Amino acid sequence: MKHFLTTADWTLEALQAILADAENLKRSPIRDDLKNKAMALLFFNPSLRTRTSFELGVQQLGGTAIALNAGQDSWPLAFDEGVPMLGDEEEHVIEAAQVLGRYVDFIGIRSFPKFKNWQEDRKDQVIKSFAKYAGVPIVNMETITHPCQELAMIKALQDRHGELKGKKFVLTWTYHPKPLNTAVANSALMAAAKFGMDVTLLCPNENYILDQRYMKKAGEYAAGFGGDITISHDIDSAYAGADAVYAKSWGAIPYFGNWDEERPIRDAHKHFIVDEEKMQKTNNATFSHCLPLRRNVKATDAVMNADYCLAIEEAENRLHVQKALLSALAKG
Ligand code: CP
Repeated sequence: MKHFLTTADWTLEALQAILADAENLKRSPIRDDLKNKAMALLFFNPSLRTRTSFELGVQQLGGTAIALNAGQDSWPLAFDEGVPMLGDEEEHVIEAAQVLGRYVDFIGIRSFPKFKNWQEDRKDQVIKSFAKYAGVPIVNMETITHPCQELAMIKALQDRHGELKGKKFVLTWTYHPKPLNTAVANSALMAAAKFGMDVTLLCPNENYILDQRYMKKAGEYAAGFGGDITISHDIDSAYAGADAVYAKSWGAIPYFGNWDEERPIRDAHKHFIVDEEKMQKTNNATFSHCLPLRRNVKATDAVMNADYCLAIEEAENRLHVQKALLSALAKG
């Protein structure tokens, strides 16, 4: 059975076919690809874009979407196997996943890291448990990667730049008062490399380099699809000649569970904000971010309001690419 847990499981050709169909769906939004089908959307974390775009997208394809806030609308779930359930969890994922799988044709899962122990978080236990037990395709709505955002980002870039191969893509860390998920950064890195871009990862120091699993995968894509990967801690050289700047904040992996020690480092790098001065160093680059974004912390008002800012187009694309993805999954 085909899941959509990570784009790494899908070929470039398959992803490009989804992007092409997303453009069809942008032009003609109403189809019946999901007629008599249903999708459960299980959220362990908040959402604006993901929830709205999936609910609406399923409806626009003739299906039914049911959104559940885990632990509020549904029972708190246990995931560890073979141990007495003596905590607050009333139900085990083994039953919950199988039951949902008897009702619906697809299940979307949003489950962020716990931010205490990266070695635990990187197992991605919640979504992998659903994939193991549900018996229906599982869609990643953001866990430790955000593959739907990857597709939306690539569509926005292709729509503005055309062919992406050989274009310089700068993935820049930005300041945020709290340590955030690495998911979108992992995904942006892999997607840009898979589509042949020359990727520069700009971050404060080596502690902000992303998990080796994703760095390695991006390196493999660069070798296979004609791009390259550069790590930089220098703002001027990273922005120089960039065609696309993509911003995200994330917590440094070595500090998971020890965030008080990371705080002085992140506080010392507030100047990583994306502003007009930095954008002027680029090759008339576009800018984007997955949203939500704290204005004048991650990017200035001027950057967010500029014509070169693709953030709203990228957010709109979530609707189109997810519909195309579900249509592809429905065909099997
Ligand atoms: N980008 C994104 O996933 O937005 P939400 O968190 O609002 O769903």
